[in-house]
Amino acid sequence: MTDVSVDRELCVGHGRCYAAAPGIFEPDDEGFAVVVGEATDDSRAALSLAEQNCPEHAVLVSEG
Ligand code: F3S
Repeated sequence: MTDVSVDRELCVGHGRCYAAAPGIFEPDDEGFAVVVGEATDDSRAALSLAEQNCPEHAVLVSEG
């Protein structure tokens, strides 16, 4: 099972995560990312892109 989270202390609202994987991340009212979906086989590439493209390294993905 893939565990996805956003470190809210690191996120500054670049928005690359929800641009790359809109099914998993959405912006809150201030543009900070929240996790709204689960990783699936179909979204794995998008999730990986989101993780790699966050300049703050705030997207955390771990295999549990
Ligand atoms: Fe935040 Fe990084 Fe996404 S700074 S909005 S987690 S791209």
